[in-house]
Amino acid sequence: MAILITGGAGFIGSHTVVELQNAGYEVVVIDNLSNSSEASLKRVEEITGKPVRFYKTDILDREGLEAVFEKETIDSCIHFAGLKAVGESVAKPWEYYHNNIAGTLTLLDVMRKHGVKNIVFSSSATVYGTPAVIPVTEDCPKGEITNPYGQTKGMLEQILTDIQKADEEWNVILLRYFNPIGAHKSGKIGENPNGIPNNLMPYITQVAVGKLKELGVFGNDYDTPDGTGVRDYIHVVDLAKGHVRAIEKIKENPGLKIYNLGTGKGYSVLDIVKTFEEATGVKIPYVIKARRPGDIACNYADPSLAKKELHWEAENGLREMCEDAWRWQSNNPNGFEES
Ligand code: NAD
Ligand code: UFG
Repeated sequence: MAILITGGAGFIGSHTVVELQNAGYEVVVIDNLSNSSEASLKRVEEITGKPVRFYKTDILDREGLEAVFEKETIDSCIHFAGLKAVGESVAKPWEYYHNNIAGTLTLLDVMRKHGVKNIVFSSSATVYGTPAVIPVTEDCPKGEITNPYGQTKGMLEQILTDIQKADEEWNVILLRYFNPIGAHKSGKIGENPNGIPNNLMPYITQVAVGKLKELGVFGNDYDTPDGTGVRDYIHVVDLAKGHVRAIEKIKENPGLKIYNLGTGKGYSVLDIVKTFEEATGVKIPYVIKARRPGDIACNYADPSLAKKELHWEAENGLREMCEDAWRWQSNNPNGFEES
């Protein structure tokens, strides 16, 4: 019996394939490679020493999915596949709704047709909007979402909730990620954004490697200790291990479950810059810029429910996240291109 990983060639997916294989799971990956490279899966094979069964398939392609479900014996699915760039989603809402919503509906239909009704879904702390309480607990009401990407996460949470309510054979775990950064300790896999990075850590590593001149810090007048935005950064390997725990527990704790995956600690943009410099010895020049539209001041998780029920807790601190992100970037200045 295998675990189907949609979007498994991507940043979080590839790290999760490593952790699942290391834990002894059989894994099948599908990805349309729209935001990733098959080279990441070759690197996964180098890390684990096990082959990855890969199908270049789109989750919108019903026939392609049917073929995978007919060939493989799938038990559960971890569903990462989706478009994820906040700014791009504002410019291309149709593409985001089509890919993320229609794609997931197609996947769910093929799954139920084949009697596969266990799914772990990649949601996001973005569903809390401006959180009503910090640290954010899972029962915190969902907030106003300011972009189509975030809307797809909110809508897919609702769709999965309604499907599970209507048919109790479904077991659904919604994982709300905070800010995944870092990379596998081997330096072989990591985040590989297209073009200029939107997110803080890949921007910093590209400044460090000399591809970008300086970091723009989006606002220093927030109501936070140093005025810059505060987030809950989580090492991608810890996040990946959270998925292994979710898969272990999905049948033990049936029904619908929601977990925050974060560390419970908030760091500001300037904390990240300082820790990165200390961890790597590389200076990050920065300039203060205007606030980025849609950003909130502060967001970090209360991860205690995941600790209690999944027996999962993040292990890596910020320094390790910085060291590992830098190892990946400095070993692979052009991402997977050279492999
Ligand atoms: P990623 O872009 O690296 O991985 C997503 C993968 O899905 C890519 O490999 C892409 O090629 C694939 N994909 C996209 N559309 C597809 C389709 N129609 N059919 C098949 N494959 C498709 O992103 P990631 O950072 O690894 O994120 C994984 C998931 O986690 C996404 O759903 C994302 O929205 C969610 N998430 C990410 C973050 C973050 O900060 N990275 C935070 C919260 C939630
Ligand atoms: N920031 C900068 N300069 C940059 C990039 C970011 O100052 O060049 C700041 C932002 O203003 C924010 C912090 O760094 O204060 C983190 O920004 P990111 O773009 O790295 O992350 P976000 O918290 O904005 O969003 C991320 C993902 C979303 C996801 C959310 C979940 O991009 O998809 O985490 O918490 F929904």
